Amino acid sequence: TQAPVNVTVTGAAGQIGYALLFRIASGQLLGADTPVRLRLLEIPQAVKAAEGTAMELNDCAFPLLSGIDIFDDAKQAFSGANVALLVGARPRAKGMERGDLLEANGGIFKPQGEAINAGAADDIRVLVVGNPANTNALIAQSHAPDVPAGRFTAMTRLDHNRALAQLSKKLDVPVSEITKLTIWGNHSATQYPDIFHAEVGGKNAAEAVNDQAWLADEFIPTVAKRGAAIIEARGASSAASAAGAAIDHVHTWVNGTAEGDWTSMAIPSDGSYGVPEGIISSFPVTCSGGEYRIVQGLEIDEFSRARIDASVQELTEERDAVRALGLI
Ligand code: NAI
Repeated sequence: TQAPVNVTVTGAAGQIGYALLFRIASGQLLGADTPVRLRLLEIPQAVKAAEGTAMELNDCAFPLLSGIDIFDDAKQAFSGANVALLVGARPRAKGMERGDLLEANGGIFKPQGEAINAGAADDIRVLVVGNPANTNALIAQSHAPDVPAGRFTAMTRLDHNRALAQLSKKLDVPVSEITKLTIWGNHSATQYPDIFHAEVGGKNAAEAVNDQAWLADEFIPTVAKRGAAIIEARGASSAASAAGAAIDHVHTWVNGTAEGDWTSMAIPSDGSYGVPEGIISSFPVTCSGGEYRIVQGLEIDEFSRARIDASVQELTEERDAVRALGLI
């Protein structure tokens, strides 16, 4: 039998943590034949709540769950980690300036990057979920010089899944018939969900929609502002859907994309599509053998170019802001 894979989850006592941990323990993160050992990181005040969740995890008697350890120290939590899901972050409080938000998150993601550098396993794969996810990933990555930069990724899979759902509803087709959709840029309201290369039952999705007004005035804003709409309706931010997307992101990274399809991941740019090198921006990627590759050669029209550029501009400004704060 396979040795257990160490999965470190930060923010384990939070609402995404509660939706995420049971799915990891049931085998959905890596596959139904891979045992996992959970390493949970929380702040000291939330360790007791994490212990409660661990009791419930044990009570599920998951055959693939080989153990749970709980820490309030990043160095210990990331020691030996093969997969790290960085969920815990500092939310924007009312009236908080962007600089304060970035600084508060720097205080979390800098030491976590250092801890990953110091003690994670050689095959470590990191997914940052905690917002601002792309820039938090950049902060962590810049403090892990011994880890290949590409192992640090941020989550735009929830945006990708939201776009699939909206398009499926519009065209009245199952999500399983939609392929090659792309989220470009930042996980923020500037993100660009792109259906110009997407296919529905083998036909071009934008042509199948044939409604530019819907695309510009409904589809894009609905996907980009979905997080706020969920908060408005539910009184709390997306949790189960965010957890589901985190599962999808890692599962696809490790197990691969289907032939003829791709997914969206925020990854350090190699300069493709004019995105400045090093910025952690969302791209269309294929995955195979545990590695991802940016889909090359897509034609980007003026409409798409303007939207990609605007989101990348925001990421560049966030990078410059954390650089000015000495966080990277
Ligand atoms: P939450 O507030 O319910 O839970 C966050 C948990 O993180 C808390 O238990 C807190 O104690 C913990 N935490 C704070 N600092 C920590 C640290 N230094 N180390 C370890 N744990 C720490 O929040 P929720 O709803 O679970 O969301 C978590 C994050 O995910 C937020 O930043 C949210 O904005 C983000 N998010 C990202 C999405 C994406 O698509 N990228 C989608 C939805 C949420």
